Amino acid sequence: MRIAVIGAFGQLGSDLMPLLGERGIPLGHHDVELAEPESIASALGARQPTHVINCAAYNLVDKAEDEPEVAFRVNGFGTRNLAKWCASQKIPLLQVSTDYVFGLEKSDRPWLETDPTGPASAYGASKLAGEIFVRSQCPQHLIVRTCGLYGHRAARGKGNFVETMLRLGRERPELKIVADQYCTPTSTADLAAALARLIESDKWGVYHATNAGQCSWYEFACEIFRLANLPVKAIPIPAAEYALKARRPDFSVLDCSKLQSVLGVPQPSWQDALARYLRDRITTA
Ligand SMILES: NC(=O)c1ccc[n+]([C@@H]2O[C@H](COP(=O)([O-])OP(=O)(O)OC[C@H]3O[C@@H](n4cnc5c(N)ncnc54)[C@H](OP(=O)(O)O)[C@@H]3O)[C@@H](O)[C@H]2O)c1
Repeated sequence: MRIAVIGAFGQLGSDLMPLLGERGIPLGHHDVELAEPESIASALGARQPTHVINCAAYNLVDKAEDEPEVAFRVNGFGTRNLAKWCASQKIPLLQVSTDYVFGLEKSDRPWLETDPTGPASAYGASKLAGEIFVRSQCPQHLIVRTCGLYGHRAARGKGNFVETMLRLGRERPELKIVADQYCTPTSTADLAAALARLIESDKWGVYHATNAGQCSWYEFACEIFRLANLPVKAIPIPAAEYALKARRPDFSVLDCSKLQSVLGVPQPSWQDALARYLRDRITTA
């Protein structure tokens, strides 16, 4: 197997590359521009992969409300370019997608892969467009929806929710945190491990892959403060009080039992993943 990873130096990609070992071919933004079909053909054509995993995306959720065409150029049409190239070479594509393809509809149970989508934001719509293009253009596909990623790469650079809470928790005596939006924060280390195994399967289709369990952002933050021994006071607030440009789902917990049936093992809980992340960040930072 020769697995090209697009977005290899992002948060997820950089946890995936070491797991692939010699099978992995890293491709950063400087190697390939998804929005340009010629760039894809030249970068991938030169490397001749047998499989492609796309971890790259336009991820600026709030900014996408002001420039939806940019989000669609990368996440929608860029993904289409990639899917068409993979189909032309008759090789499989694993596309990483998001829980934000849900949001307009309500659910009182975790979302299944077969549930109707309904993104509430431009970012979510652009990622859903990417999913649809992958399904229509590339028969051998795996679409993996995930949620609330945090990884060590971002800890050293752009940041993530955990790092933001650790910083603010040290700086401030109290913090207001949204308590009425539920999802499953997911460590890129655990997601990468699932992807490295899933790419070996030929069980094409849509999958949900997160850590196990669910919580609100408030509950997640409280666990971060507890594990990091930070005395900050966490105050639960409704999302309506914390105005962001893009609308987020109230409940985007994903049912991962289909993934579990293919991999044969359950995903680690979000609490376990967080504890490992906090322990390891001291040595990897
Ligand atoms: N982060 C989350 O909480 C979250 C939640 C659910 C799903 N996801 C999905 O999970 C996947 C991985 O997310 P992540 O957090 O690892 O993202 P990330 O850290 O932002 O990494 C994305 C990578 O894609 C590259 N990239 C951006 N635009 C590109 C383009 N037009 N052509 C080629 N490369 C491009 C970026 O390079 P530069 O930085 O050099 O531009 C970056 O290295 C994405 O599909 C995302 O939509 C993320």
